[in-house]
Amino acid sequence: MRGILVTIAIGCCIAAVSGNALVLAEAGRIPFPSGYRDWTHVKSGLIDDPAHPAFARYGGLHHIYANPKAMTGYRTGNFPDGAILVYDLHTLVPLPDGSIDQGERRHLDVMVKDSARFAETRGWGYEEFLASAPQTPTLTPKARAGCAACHAARRAHGDVFSEYRE
Ligand code: HEC
Repeated sequence: MRGILVTIAIGCCIAAVSGNALVLAEAGRIPFPSGYRDWTHVKSGLIDDPAHPAFARYGGLHHIYANPKAMTGYRTGNFPDGAILVYDLHTLVPLPDGSIDQGERRHLDVMVKDSARFAETRGWGYEEFLASAPQTPTLTPKARAGCAACHAARRAHGDVFSEYRE
């Protein structure tokens, strides 16, 4: 009897969890790209001038990472479904000896290619994770549209700005 109850309880919870996963998938949420530090480092960049228009949100040192499918995109100009790109932004820490170290993460931006699911934004889904809550997607639909609008400037490059540095 006890065994049956336990089974029923587990069955109910699995149903509830997969139900939530479905809702999240329908809302277009992208999961945190765990494992991205093992992918290919594409390039790094620095925005350190407060006069730069992107300074407030993107000031600091960023690294761009690509999974193997995204690397196919950099090589061919055609990013296949399953490509994932990560923009990993960190603060700057000036050191007493005059050098500058990489500080804490500010936030991590992600692009995921899925032509059917993200057809409205030319096949790319956009998401952002804050350092304070790395597993929680944060962007509103309006913010995601803002990402896509700027990235559209690189339409001829599959909406991807960076280029792979040998
Ligand atoms: C005003 C223009 C602009 C907006 C808005 C913007 N980006 Fe970007 N994004 C860039 C530029 C420029 C780069 C390339 C940086 C480099 O080469 O170092 C970039 C790079 C990236 C990359 C690495 C792949 C690539 O295209 O090089 C990701 C991932 C990314 N952005 C995600 C986002 C997300 C998510 C948002 C919305 C929260 C967003 N971006 C909003 C301009 C923008």
